[in-house]
Amino acid sequence: MPNILKNISLKSLNTFGLDCKAQYFVEINAIEEMRELVANPLFQSQRILILGGGSNILLTQDFEGLVIKNNISGIELVEENAEHFWVKVGAGEVWHNFVMHSIEKQWAGIENLALIPGTVGAAPMQNIGAYGVEIKDVFWQLEALNLSTREIEIFDHAACAFGYRESVFKHSKKGQYMICRVGFKLNKGVHLHLEYGAILETLKSMHIVEPSIKDVASAVIAIRQSKLPDPKKIGNSGSFFKNPVVPTALYSKLKAAYPDMPAYIQDDQLVKIPAGWLIEQAGWKGKRLGEIGVHDKQALVLVNYGAGKGNDLVKLAQDIQHSVLEKFGVTLHPEVNII
Ligand code: EPU
Repeated sequence: MPNILKNISLKSLNTFGLDCKAQYFVEINAIEEMRELVANPLFQSQRILILGGGSNILLTQDFEGLVIKNNISGIELVEENAEHFWVKVGAGEVWHNFVMHSIEKQWAGIENLALIPGTVGAAPMQNIGAYGVEIKDVFWQLEALNLSTREIEIFDHAACAFGYRESVFKHSKKGQYMICRVGFKLNKGVHLHLEYGAILETLKSMHIVEPSIKDVASAVIAIRQSKLPDPKKIGNSGSFFKNPVVPTALYSKLKAAYPDMPAYIQDDQLVKIPAGWLIEQAGWKGKRLGEIGVHDKQALVLVNYGAGKGNDLVKLAQDIQHSVLEKFGVTLHPEVNII
């Protein structure tokens, strides 16, 4: 039976670095341990929080219940053919380590997702993405433990219902499963996605003409390091809000008033607007309120300078939402889970 601890600080287990405690805390290293835990009366009677890398949560108070840290490890090549590699990865593996391992093995497809904080198990939950690639583009299937039946279920691509920072695990299946292993279909042939953001520019400044997947990862790492704070130094959880998707009519009105507004056309009815731009225009970029603030190089990132409190970050997020709504008529929705 895994060892259940009491009153454990979660400070080092959430990238905001918020000092909240778990009433009960347990680390899981194998699916069998999780099965045993699910059968334990404590599990049955408590609120449950499953933690991956803690990079997408905002803790506002001590967690009265059981926090489970998923440490299931392992990266296994299960099959390959002329075009693809099928790889299964333990949910507890650190996402960036898996990306770097893939690059070493010449498994292509996730090089644009270098340096995203968090674990492999959390990645499909919110369909992580960056620089024109989302995990759904390379997803094969995942194995999840049904917390009621204690059976492993396989979710294929369709069953995950991926959307922009969305999956079924944030909606109809929320809280019902623990993701144990994630399968990816990676490429032998290299199809680079260089068109997004500053990738080409960065490769050029690195004097790279024919980039390898390693070069692309290096460019992505350089861009991310230039804009996003390192959670080891300044607490943060990456983008705090999702980029809002608005009707074309509202977009046209805003574009007329703000011709420089960047935007990504989704289809003939919807347009995605960068929340970072909206927040910056509303005057929040680089604003510091004591121990918390808005990052000075990317306004979509809220930061904890050290002794910040979760509730203060929630209040700041609400103030930002209000001012963006007032100025632009656009509602921002958090990407981060507030607990
Ligand atoms: N912008 C501003 N001011 C800012 C921030 C951004 O004007 O303070 C403008 C930029 O100039 C650019 C546009 O907004 O024209 C987009 O900015 P950026 O390329 O930095 O990306 P983003 O839309 O803010 C998204 C993801 C990031 C991902 C990047 C790169 C979301 C919510 N965020 O950010 O993902 O790394 O694109 O692909 O979709 C995350 O989810 O935690 C995350 C970091």
